[in-house]
Amino acid sequence: MAVTLLFYNFKGGVGKTTLSVIAADHLSRCKKKVLLIDLDAQASATQIMEVSYGTITIKKELRNSLNDNTLEESVVTLDDYLDIIPSDWSMSLWNQDTEKLTKHDRDLVLKKDLLSLKNNYDYIILDVPPTLSTLVNNAVLASDYVALVLQTQRSSYESVLNTIQYLSQLQNDYANESNFDLVGIILYLVSRNGATDLDIVKKAKDLFGNSIFTNQILRRERVKMWANHGITHKKNDIHDKQTHEMYSLVLHELLYRIGMAETTKK
Ligand SMILES: Nc1ncnc2c1ncn2[C@@H]1O[C@H](COP(=O)(O)OP(=O)(O)OP(=O)(O)O)[C@@H](O)[C@H]1O
Ligand SMILES: [Mg+2]
Repeated sequence: MAVTLLFYNFKGGVGKTTLSVIAADHLSRCKKKVLLIDLDAQASATQIMEVSYGTITIKKELRNSLNDNTLEESVVTLDDYLDIIPSDWSMSLWNQDTEKLTKHDRDLVLKKDLLSLKNNYDYIILDVPPTLSTLVNNAVLASDYVALVLQTQRSSYESVLNTIQYLSQLQNDYANESNFDLVGIILYLVSRNGATDLDIVKKAKDLFGNSIFTNQILRRERVKMWANHGITHKKNDIHDKQTHEMYSLVLHELLYRIGMAETTKK
């Protein structure tokens, strides 16, 4: 039964998609069966996977398969251990499609649709747009674990506080259906020694304590290159190696935290 993961902050451009695609890449390379679902009409995750793994041909638009509960018809295989449900512009119309449903049913479409796929994977990773919307409600409620991403820039800190409030509101509103745990906060340091960055890191540690991941993401030019030309794993390339190592430490910590949370859940 798959563990469903979501990297989230409703603020845009904080590294959610990058974490999602690198997590999918790393976990599948460790022979874990992974499904990446791109729920964002911007389709950035789809584009990065396309330049990394080759052309992705949409078999059935995600918008349509969400609406008629046939998600499996949108699955595209990228590798032995990696599948994707790609996104496209039509996902921007999906919130509208759900308006005929009751508020309760509208927020639980993805959770229900995913049931038929959960047995096929070890991990399902959801990539969402930076919004507070029916779509994001669906992703949160379909998740088992949510990791927040905090970029060390002014206003990011406030956005994490607001995001936590939003998540607990969903947990209250869907006390019987929601099953997700907040597994921690991943810091994305814009600059390692910048005064603003250090100030935000300190504030975040004071307020959130152990929820802050020990391992952090730093700004690396290599990540931008991967976004444009595909994720590479060149053994003799120091930048590839160091950047993968940085993400790998964060992902190991994520799995460790999930392991701990699973033990307490039992
Ligand atoms: N560690 C990093 N180093 C340098 N650039 C990065 C890093 N992580 C992400 N980026 C770049 O920052 C930009 C935003 O990242 P990304 O698309 O992952 O954020 P996002 O939170 O998914 O954005 P959106 O909210 O628009 O979906 C991208 O251009 C990406 O290549
Ligand atoms: Mg994104």
